[in-house]
Amino acid sequence: MAVNKFEQGRIPVEFMQLTNDQQLMLNGECGEAARQSMEILAALGKIYGAKDMVSITSAQVAGVSYKTIGEAGLEYLQDFAAAGACVRIPTFLNPAGMDREQWQKLKVPAAFAKKQLEILSAFSKMGISSTCTCTPYLVGIRPKLGEHIAWSESSAISFANSVLGARTNREGGPSALAAAVCGCTPNYGLHLDENRIANLLVKVETPLKGTSDFGAMGAFVGEAAKGKTPAFVGVKAASEDRLKSLGASMAAWGSTAIYFMKGVTPEWNVVKGAEELTFGAAELAATREKMGGEGKPDIIAIGCPHASLQEIEEVAARVRGKKLQTKLWVCTARQTLEAADNAGFTREIEQAGGNVVADTCMVVCPLEEMGMAHAACNSGKAAKYLTNMFKKKVVYGDVEDIICE
Ligand code: F3S
Repeated sequence: MAVNKFEQGRIPVEFMQLTNDQQLMLNGECGEAARQSMEILAALGKIYGAKDMVSITSAQVAGVSYKTIGEAGLEYLQDFAAAGACVRIPTFLNPAGMDREQWQKLKVPAAFAKKQLEILSAFSKMGISSTCTCTPYLVGIRPKLGEHIAWSESSAISFANSVLGARTNREGGPSALAAAVCGCTPNYGLHLDENRIANLLVKVETPLKGTSDFGAMGAFVGEAAKGKTPAFVGVKAASEDRLKSLGASMAAWGSTAIYFMKGVTPEWNVVKGAEELTFGAAELAATREKMGGEGKPDIIAIGCPHASLQEIEEVAARVRGKKLQTKLWVCTARQTLEAADNAGFTREIEQAGGNVVADTCMVVCPLEEMGMAHAACNSGKAAKYLTNMFKKKVVYGDVEDIICE
């Protein structure tokens, strides 16, 4: 007889204050999936010394692509849905392995697509919205200052904590899902004031030209921070698009989940006597050199994190009236794609031979299976992952540098 993997390891919770509701869930009186979820949360709370749970207003679940979670992940989700899992707060998905509407046109292998659709179906059974984006904050899911959430995409976590001042730990896919089912998360880490304090002061002493410079600064600081929380001074012209690129890169090259920027972020807490780090012209040049390679890419990939409407407009302006020799993908959220359709940007990009792609991204879709082996990008995070994926350094630069045909 098959062993129910969820039956193992009951967790006593005398160490934590639970509300009546939470205790009922843990007792199994709200169904098996809620019991399993509360056990996961209680176990996390025990590990990290949480005294209680905090209510959350939204959850974002990573681990959606079949490329990332494979057969074991699909089976877990199907079992969880069959156990009656149902979310009790608004819950959203990170990018999947393909565009749900254009996968055939984009030549995603059919066997992969079948598995991906099964994953999305399991999430849908749990009541989760199929947003499939790493930038929920660009499509109306924008938690406010001090709001508690449980998100699990590293770039979205950074943006929510830093730019919006919301509060989330770095959740894994399963813990975010458990939080979604229970409507709460253990109250520790970045949910608490005392952990939202910078201890690394980054003095920026060079102008940052565009998104790729912000990504390079993120790579440098992410690696150098080694678990410290950075606070930036001296940054000029930090648009939201650039901040999302900075945060994504710091999280990818290091593990930064929150940062502050003088005059920009809603919170600015720096410990007295914080260690200092300088980011000047020499550091920028050396980091860009380290990140970027040469050669002709098979694909130019924009939209990591998912592109804003303004970024799509920038690409459309760049390719207007041209015929590209290289495949171009601009990855974005479905709602942003629809806005780009309405504005005419999608048509301009398609007329040049490119695609605006929703629900997925260059990292979580099976690009290797689709015959690609070298990429160009403008994102520090994508540069890190695509270099690992293709075993070859990406061509790195801003849109005007990498779309030059
Ligand atoms: Fe988003 Fe994919 Fe980049 S999930 S942050 S576009 S690697």
